[in-house]
Amino acid sequence: MNRELSMEFVRVTEAAAIACGHSVGRGDKNGADQLAVDAMRKMFDTVNISGTVVIGEGEMDEAPMLYIGEKVGCGGPEVDIAVDPVEGTNLVAKGQPGAIAVIAIAPKGCLLHAPDMYMDKIAVGPRAKGCINIDAPIQENLERVATALERKIKDLTVVVLDRERHQGIIEDIRRAGARIQLITDGDVNPVVNAGIEGTGVHMYIGKGGAPEGVLAAAAIKCLGGDFQARLCPEDDEQVARCLKMGIGDINRILTLDDLVKGDDCMFTSTAITDCNLLNGLNYFGNGVRTHTISMRYMTGTVRFVDAVHTFDKKKMEIKL
Ligand code: FBP
Repeated sequence: MNRELSMEFVRVTEAAAIACGHSVGRGDKNGADQLAVDAMRKMFDTVNISGTVVIGEGEMDEAPMLYIGEKVGCGGPEVDIAVDPVEGTNLVAKGQPGAIAVIAIAPKGCLLHAPDMYMDKIAVGPRAKGCINIDAPIQENLERVATALERKIKDLTVVVLDRERHQGIIEDIRRAGARIQLITDGDVNPVVNAGIEGTGVHMYIGKGGAPEGVLAAAAIKCLGGDFQARLCPEDDEQVARCLKMGIGDINRILTLDDLVKGDDCMFTSTAITDCNLLNGLNYFGNGVRTHTISMRYMTGTVRFVDAVHTFDKKKMEIKL
């Protein structure tokens, strides 16, 4: 994919974040999502790609826009697109940190068409690449990561979604002596943090959304880190969905290359509320300042785009 596209994708997540920014704290997660979806969809149509949404807002009959299979873009290379116009809808509704607008892009056929179900995930940054095993005890993973990072387990911080289902994992991490950051929602951004040195996050582990898993895997691939996953279908219908999406062996460990194939992917996210590495939207009289991270696997470039958007000049339509 042409490198100029990376800036076009920045515009896409910026538009989604800006559109829903005034919803922060207003208690309406679906309304916020809709505003972001509409804006993201519109901006995609200005981008020179022939894109297909492979991870989106749902099936065609349940999502009017950015549905799985929808074609976006105004013509160009054929690409797969994973979108989450608001990752962390509850965070936006409650005005809490950690909400982002996020997309991942790879050439056609390269992104796993992950069904909307849970996925077990474990992620680390480049220095700990090759040290994780999703089937190994937590203690073992922590020992190996600590050695790779030349520190003690007690100096590692692991991010885990604060859910009842993670009680066992949380106890195991505490027993091993590592520190934990429990999050209420939004597990893409913490995986990105685990992939970047200096964020204070060294590992992400736990069960979250499979679509979010593919988005996060694209970031980790760009960053040179490591990610393993396993789908967790909960009933026959979900097993059937895995099969329909071409995932034959549902018990198989999914590696980074299963989730994001090939050597050409991009990842972009714009903060809606404050994140570890990104400032949330900052509105002023006639505009807004956005903060975006943009990555490209081919070159390994990680760009932080700090932008000021002026509403009257851009004739931006802000619906709230
Ligand atoms: P939204 O779809 O409401 O934005 O929620 C996203 C999310 O928090 C993901 O980041 C995470 O992977 C998943 O939901 C966790 O699911 P659950 O809330 O069911 O534990």
